[in-house]
Amino acid sequence: MALPATQMVPDTPKLAPAPLGDWWDDVQWAVALSLLDAVLAPVVATGDARIEQQKKSKAAPDDRLQFDRSSFKTLPQAEFDAAVARTRAAFVTPPDASVIVECLADRASDNPNFLMGIRRTLNGVPPKDKKVLGGLLTMLSGRVGALALTGYYMPVQNQPVDVREKILQNWSRSWMPTLRKVSRMFQTLAQTSWTMSNTKFREVTGYTDFPKNWQPGPSFDYKFLQFGKDSTPAAADLETLDTDIVIVGSGCGGAVCAKILAAAGHRVVVVEKAYHYPQSQLPMPQNEGSRLLYENAGALATTDPAISVLAGACWGGGGTINWSVSLRTPDKVRQEWAEGQPGMSFLTSPAFDASMDRVCDFMGVNNVIENPSPSTAAAVDDEQSHRGRVILDNAIKLDFKAEALLQNTSGGKPHDDGHCHLGCSSAEKKGTSVSWLPAAAEAGAQFIEGFHVERVLFEGDDGTAIGGATASSIPHSTSDSGPKAVGVVGTWLSRDENGGVAGEKRTKKRVVVKAKKVIVSCGSLWSPVVLKKSGLANPQIGKNLHLHPCNFVNAYFDEETKPMDKGIITSICTSFEDLDGQYHGPRIESTCMVPYAIMTNLPWNSSLDFKTAAMRYQHMDGFISLTRDRDSGCVFPDPITGQPVVDYVPSALDREHAVEGVIGIARLCHAAGANEIRAYIAHTRPFTAATKADSNTNRDYKKDDPAFEAWVEEVRSAALSASPLWGGWNVATPFASAHQMGTCRMGDDSGQASVVNPRGQVWGTQGLYVADASVFPSASGVNPMVSTMAFADWIANGIVKEMSAN
Ligand SMILES: Cc1cc2nc3c(=O)[nH]c(=O)nc-3n(C[C@H](O)[C@H](O)[C@H](O)COP(=O)(O)OP(=O)(O)OC[C@H]3O[C@@H](n4cnc5c(N)ncnc54)[C@H](O)[C@@H]3O)c2cc1C
Ligand SMILES: *[C@@H]1O[C@H](CO)[C@@H](O)[C@H](O)[C@H]1NC(C)=O
Ligand SMILES: *[C@@H]1O[C@H](CO)[C@@H](O)[C@H](O)[C@H]1NC(C)=O
Ligand SMILES: *[C@@H]1O[C@H](CO)[C@@H](O)[C@H](O)[C@H]1NC(C)=O
Ligand SMILES: *[C@@H]1O[C@H](CO)[C@@H](O)[C@H](O)[C@H]1NC(C)=O
Repeated sequence: MALPATQMVPDTPKLAPAPLGDWWDDVQWAVALSLLDAVLAPVVATGDARIEQQKKSKAAPDDRLQFDRSSFKTLPQAEFDAAVARTRAAFVTPPDASVIVECLADRASDNPNFLMGIRRTLNGVPPKDKKVLGGLLTMLSGRVGALALTGYYMPVQNQPVDVREKILQNWSRSWMPTLRKVSRMFQTLAQTSWTMSNTKFREVTGYTDFPKNWQPGPSFDYKFLQFGKDSTPAAADLETLDTDIVIVGSGCGGAVCAKILAAAGHRVVVVEKAYHYPQSQLPMPQNEGSRLLYENAGALATTDPAISVLAGACWGGGGTINWSVSLRTPDKVRQEWAEGQPGMSFLTSPAFDASMDRVCDFMGVNNVIENPSPSTAAAVDDEQSHRGRVILDNAIKLDFKAEALLQNTSGGKPHDDGHCHLGCSSAEKKGTSVSWLPAAAEAGAQFIEGFHVERVLFEGDDGTAIGGATASSIPHSTSDSGPKAVGVVGTWLSRDENGGVAGEKRTKKRVVVKAKKVIVSCGSLWSPVVLKKSGLANPQIGKNLHLHPCNFVNAYFDEETKPMDKGIITSICTSFEDLDGQYHGPRIESTCMVPYAIMTNLPWNSSLDFKTAAMRYQHMDGFISLTRDRDSGCVFPDPITGQPVVDYVPSALDREHAVEGVIGIARLCHAAGANEIRAYIAHTRPFTAATKADSNTNRDYKKDDPAFEAWVEEVRSAALSASPLWGGWNVATPFASAHQMGTCRMGDDSGQASVVNPRGQVWGTQGLYVADASVFPSASGVNPMVSTMAFADWIANGIVKEMSAN
């Protein structure tokens, strides 16, 4: 039955059942849950009826995880009432006090979805780390270990929830880096899962999973190749496919290559390890979206684990979940990349301009308008979100440089949709999965989803051996000839009988795609891992990882900010982008306000503080200080799982730069009249101004507000304090990265410090190319989609020329 258009909602795909969590035993889980529960401890007033009720209600009989689930954190009635009143006073339209009281009294571990979320996230943590953490949990479950690590004889899981909360607070300031890390890890896990699953949070904030008046745009009718559906799964023989060019990865690099090479008349097969979700299934709710559209089910972090690493892993890759920022590579970065290497001079030549023009023209990207007409200027103005305005309007007061970013999605109409981080239903702007890949299909390209490439095949390897090709390790050679790539091998996993990805009946096959040329476009996390697993020995593979590390700031305003309205990023401030004369430094951008994205890293102080901060969501603006990093880290395959491991610690210089962006954001928010500002830097208090409700004080912006300047100094010193002996407090300061770059760097140096030559061909091989953000010689400084596509255009057109010459 057709529903009226206004009542339509996306057809959300089902997730496979959550993993059992059998990496830990029941006692270890009990300790873990008792700590996660404490991050979000139920808070009530002394004498609240819930306290007695909870004592009477027995834990469910099948509850194997025995920890104290009967205690509350209590506050004297007056103090509790004041906290509720303060929270309500922060709203223009406050919810009933009872709704806030319920949210405070909520016990996270009562919600099965909270637990499922924790298991799904932990599933992606490397086995080695889970084992170490498991050992710690075992210690905490016994008296001796508890005494050593908490100062109490009582095993942690038997402690009342307010003591567990104190233990976590103490750990966050411990002299032992491990305890600081563990404290932060539990905070992050709990905050993410709570924000995704808590119904009381939704009642208070009114957050909904889907945009108002949701209407799916047209979807391209993809036909993905299928294998052996009808044969018995036992048939172990390889399926083999023949083509001219196989492209691994359907993201920004792969999609552009596919269109160019197919349009040039070559037979092209694009393979992608993840799956396609049509517009009718987008956007997804937070839990489904983060698991189905992101790398490692949305749970990838650096080994530290101070940096959350976000990368698209779905049909269309990062293009499918991008935030619509389409910026050309800055001239200063192009000059740096071109410098000193003759073969790299194309980067400052009209040829690379032409590559950028072609990709921008194809997508209708045009973010600079010279002398806008009044109507265009008004349209741009109308696209600004509240936080976009905070940047633009207050930059003037502070003498900062800022500009509007044209979204120009929807063919000139504003794209008022904050949900695109979890997939975009509209299909109106021309990106990877709505334009480049369909154009490739129309030119004859074939596609395989659910196909995880294990390694590149070189002459003599027919793909029958399972596992890496380490036996035939290919020594690093500086020539641009060597063993010839002849295809790829990997595992294909079909959809289930309902066409979804949650069922158990799915066909698994090993598949070989034979090709004359192989293009690896797996993104900066996977491309080096695939090359290493293919036996390539160049030590540069996986090095030079740039992340554009981001520190967050949020601010609260008296007025509603309507966080999900308008585009995600509608303006930027560039005053700090060049702090060292070499174009390193942060750019200030507004950020995505999907609740888990902004609240996962909110520095935790106590359950009460976190819950009341989260509840004021409709008055919140989030920003990032996105740093063009001078220094780098690396990526390598986990020896057990084969997944990419990301080893990256922001350097002192990059941290110094990042915090100047944080302070710049705080200044903009202060100038905009924010009543509270939180820098996401460990151990900094929020800056609070008088709220409207507190007083009638004039909150007109004063340039040299001493209270604010004192807070700024606290933030700066907290961000930079580091005790080298103990790893520094900074381990607890969160960063995030949505931009991974540079791990298969391009260079004209015979592979001394590079992985591919200026045509994208892997040094020491034939017929093997890399085309994605991993070929950047260093960080792009701007959001990398357009630069990635321009490199792909350059590399693919080079291959077209090469193939027509043969
Ligand atoms: C939340 C978010 C928002 C962003 N917003 C913007 C923005 O607004 N503007 C901007 O410029 N940039 C943005 N970016 C960055 C942008 O998405 C990336 O820089 C860009 O997608 C990089 O392209 P790529 O080709 O290197 O890799 P990707 O686009 O990540 O594509 C790689 C693909 O390869 C697949 N793959 C990996 N390994 C294998 C394997 N072994 N076998 C088969 N397939 C494999 C992956 O699943 C993935 O789909 C955003 C990123 C994120 C995470
Ligand atoms: C926290 O640390 C303080 C000071 O180091 C100590 O007095 C207190 O007992 C600790 N509390 C807990 C719960 O560990
Ligand atoms: C916006 O996009 C439309 C369609 O692609 C184009 O005609 C128009 O010129 C663009 N407007 C601006 C301001 O870039
Ligand atoms: C980026 O996302 C928008 C939707 O938010 C989409 O319309 C556009 O096609 C995407 N761009 C790319 C390059 O995939
Ligand atoms: C929490 O914040 C309050 C107010 O800023 C501060 O007094 C207190 O010390 C903080 N507690 C912890 C554990 O960080």
